[in-house]
Amino acid sequence: MVPDDSHVTSNSHGAGDASRPWEQLASDYEQARSREDSLDRLVEWPAQRELLGDVNGLSVLDAGCGNGAKVAELVRDGAAASVGVDISGNFVDAPPPGTQLIQGDLSDLAAVPGLGGRRFDRIMFLQSFGYAKDPVAALRTARMMLADNGFIVLTRTQPIRYAIERAEQNGTSLGEEYFSTDSFSYRHNGWNDQVTLTKRPYTMSDLLNVFSAAGLWIEAAVEPQLSEDARRRYPHKQAVLNKYLGILLFKLRPLPG
Ligand SMILES: C[S@@+](CC[C@H](N)C(=O)[O-])C[C@H]1O[C@@H](n2cnc3c(N)ncnc32)[C@H](O)[C@@H]1O
Repeated sequence: MVPDDSHVTSNSHGAGDASRPWEQLASDYEQARSREDSLDRLVEWPAQRELLGDVNGLSVLDAGCGNGAKVAELVRDGAAASVGVDISGNFVDAPPPGTQLIQGDLSDLAAVPGLGGRRFDRIMFLQSFGYAKDPVAALRTARMMLADNGFIVLTRTQPIRYAIERAEQNGTSLGEEYFSTDSFSYRHNGWNDQVTLTKRPYTMSDLLNVFSAAGLWIEAAVEPQLSEDARRRYPHKQAVLNKYLGILLFKLRPLPG
């Protein structure tokens, strides 16, 4: 679903603990995601799966896995022993054998209990990367946890989305908001409009420079859209994408050396 990830530094109660907004939001987010017309279901997860490729026999680490349903599905479809990590600790009941769901912080995956020294064929940051305390450090750690020939699948909301919203709210221009470096408050009325996330804005160049600084190169980038059929069935979702563009997906591989 398009709105997404980004830095959380406070919640509606004014606390500075990054985990607390998601304690409140997690179940609302999953409820919204499971709707028949959610963009995650219609656009994002199919595109993420396509970029992951065939996971049969491969180990997967899902960083910021939500309730763990995505990594559980991959294991059901043949992935080897796989792990989901999420700060909320609000996980599906009875994931399939071979799926481990751990409450932990994606900012330092190697420090999550049970993950030290482990390697994975695929590491996913799906609409979760913005929560890393230090994005470059988080990606460097993930890079070190990749098995030979492994890669990272990372998605983020098109940064222009937030610039459009803020320009409308503030009566400013797209460029002013896109290049603004001020944190901003964000409430998602499709999830729970009582919870405020504080986000740091980013531009495309910010994002690309993080990948370079972490020693990764982009093998593929995707901007997924609705299928023709879904467009006809869910015109209100096409209207969202027409306005906000959607998400960006990246397939990232370690630079040699
Ligand atoms: C927008 S949801 C995306 C969930 C899932 N990856 C998906 O694609 O549906 C963001 C997730 O990141 C999790 N999260 C936020 N901060 C985190 C952190 N510091 N460490 C681990 N997970 C975090 C939230 O609890 C939430 O489940």
